[in-house]
Amino acid sequence: MSTHISVPPQLLLERILTLEIVRVTERAAVSAARLRGHGKEKEADQAAVDAMRRELNKLPIEGTVVIGEGERDEAPMLFIGEKVGMNAGPQVDIAVDPLEGTTLCAKNMPGAIATMAMADGGTLLHAPDVYMQKIAVGPGYARGVVELDASPADNVRRLAKAKGVDAAAITVLVLDRPRHADIIAAIRGTGAAVRLITDGDVAGVIHCADPDNTGVDMYIGTGGAPEGVLAAAALRCIGGQMQCRLILDSEEKRERAHKMGVIDPRMIYGIEDMAKGDCLFAATGVTTGSLLSGVKFRKGVIETETVVMRSVTGTVRYIKAEHRQLEKFHLD
Ligand code: FBP
Repeated sequence: MSTHISVPPQLLLERILTLEIVRVTERAAVSAARLRGHGKEKEADQAAVDAMRRELNKLPIEGTVVIGEGERDEAPMLFIGEKVGMNAGPQVDIAVDPLEGTTLCAKNMPGAIATMAMADGGTLLHAPDVYMQKIAVGPGYARGVVELDASPADNVRRLAKAKGVDAAAITVLVLDRPRHADIIAAIRGTGAAVRLITDGDVAGVIHCADPDNTGVDMYIGTGGAPEGVLAAAALRCIGGQMQCRLILDSEEKRERAHKMGVIDPRMIYGIEDMAKGDCLFAATGVTTGSLLSGVKFRKGVIETETVVMRSVTGTVRYIKAEHRQLEKFHLD
């Protein structure tokens, strides 16, 4: 009996890789979760990095880390430019945040995740590890409904009008940082609600894509650039709008960015600038948050929950896994 495969080989591989990247974030999440609540941010991060790297190196890809744990001179693992995979298969860009929310994990607070994105080679923004201004909303609005350079109050009013509600019915998610005091006051001044998070703006941005369930309409504020690119990859899969600008406030940062190909230091990046091609995104919960359940260690079984997305189809899968071959996890 002959089997007819109508899916082009490249797409078939990509479909297979969708499940493979789930394995990667699962392992990283389990390794970090062993250190939940131990107050050891660095150790938990390192455990997640080690596990993620080991799993990435089992994949049939020629991968290059473009968003990683740091830049090459700092010589961490999963540094920007590091090659990962079995050196066979498609050339892909990899963005990783093995433990997004290191403090959340160290304090055993909600919302720590292990996350990564994979895209065709040369299509993810190569961003240095600097801050980035960000604004994001979910799908279903006219392009440019909100803009990075509009005031927070204007953006709330514009979004409320587009949604057909009063500003009081809008909720904006913001990282709880002193640098955001003016933004928070301006949003509240419109009558809109602010939801503060202590960390974790990858999940924060993703919340905007499903306001009916998350209660979050918009994300505004400054966070990490790596997290911005990861969030853009997720929104590329599920829809929405995002505008971002790197904060390159010193010659040294501008030079680092320039070396990575950033020509215009003031450029505003949309989703298509940060994730130019087809991509995959996955995140596994480390601690239970509003996006995902955290890792559960039960007798003889480890449970994980992962969300995985694919831009080609826009499919979003939530994968609850029970892992029984626990020795595989004891490598960590
Ligand atoms: P880490 O996991 O690296 O600690 O990042 C957590 C985070 O909250 C990100 O989600 C966010 O983009 C960034 O930190 C904000 O940076 P800062 O804590 O310096 O304000």
